[in-house]
Amino acid sequence: MPTTTWNRHHILSLADFTTTEYDTVLQTAASFQEVLSRRTKKVPTLQGQVVANLFFEPSTRTRSSFEIAAKRLSADTLNFAAATSSITKGETILDTAKTYLAMGTDIMVVRHREAGVPNAIAAEMDRLGVRVSVLNAGDGQHEHPSQALLDLFTICTLIDPASPRLELLKGKKIAIVGDILHSRVARSNIWSLIASGAQVHLAAPPTLLPKLFAEYILEEVGGKEQGAGSRGQGAKGDKLILSSPSSPTLHSRLPTPQLFLHWQLEPALQNADFVMTLRLQKERMTAHLLPSLREYHQLFGITRTKLQLCKPKVKVLHPGPVNRGVEISSDLMDDPEFSLIQSQVTSGVAVRMALLYLLGSGKA
Ligand code: NCD
Repeated sequence: MPTTTWNRHHILSLADFTTTEYDTVLQTAASFQEVLSRRTKKVPTLQGQVVANLFFEPSTRTRSSFEIAAKRLSADTLNFAAATSSITKGETILDTAKTYLAMGTDIMVVRHREAGVPNAIAAEMDRLGVRVSVLNAGDGQHEHPSQALLDLFTICTLIDPASPRLELLKGKKIAIVGDILHSRVARSNIWSLIASGAQVHLAAPPTLLPKLFAEYILEEVGGKEQGAGSRGQGAKGDKLILSSPSSPTLHSRLPTPQLFLHWQLEPALQNADFVMTLRLQKERMTAHLLPSLREYHQLFGITRTKLQLCKPKVKVLHPGPVNRGVEISSDLMDDPEFSLIQSQVTSGVAVRMALLYLLGSGKA
């Protein structure tokens, strides 16, 4: 394991993650990936500790991934599913968390459909003065740090399997395509990719882009007033995001423009190194945001033909679950030459082992 000091007690967001923290996660995950390639895939690192998976929202891969990660570290695991819990009898979320605290939980992995629930539990644990760590496994439309970290690890290990590190993404073009409005995965990925020095291009129909982004836009690219110019991104309907007065952190991290907004897919795909597709989150759509799934697939669905705009060795990621034939064509999803979807799931275990290890090892 890399010898390093880790000072973060909860992992709730990537907004203030440092380069050192990203690299520590990547290196630690690489060590665990090596462990997972052995015949005996288990280490005693978190023996005696309790990891509780508090999932108030459905999940297949994230919940199972945290569970197997905790088991590979020899922790004891508790799995909670809201539908079969005392939440249905009126127990509050904080009382549920305190129940798990009373059973000796050391790390709470929390998913909830409302943004801010993991932060609220973490604040309560801090108020009680207990050394319980909270890990955000996806809160509403806010963040999903472990997914963005496993995406980062998947990409970095593809570039340099022996030494995955943040700087490998500097200057790479990454397109994030689809339902950005509802995507906590996109929000966490924006933080990590910007921190890496990558060029991040968001592409979605205007109805699936957060209104909040309008305030970030300082300059319109393309059109009459400015040609493609040195940035080479210009096309009518594209927006260039430079900074926001209300987001000094983002501003200070953007010495050059790194975040671009597109209402069409093509300029985002042009010469892209990686394409991240996102699921259409129909369960979060309160209004009719799309004319039809067919039209959406035609305009924003990722297909082999559309990938020809990208770099020849382009790879496609998707956090899953996938609506086959909607955000990505079914054949492309299953093609290992382009699709990293299965590698993402595999990488997820090593990355989550790293996160649990970094939070848990200080508690011994
Ligand atoms: C994502 C999530 O739940 O935010 N999935 C995941 O964690 N693997 C994305 C999604 O649900 O579309």
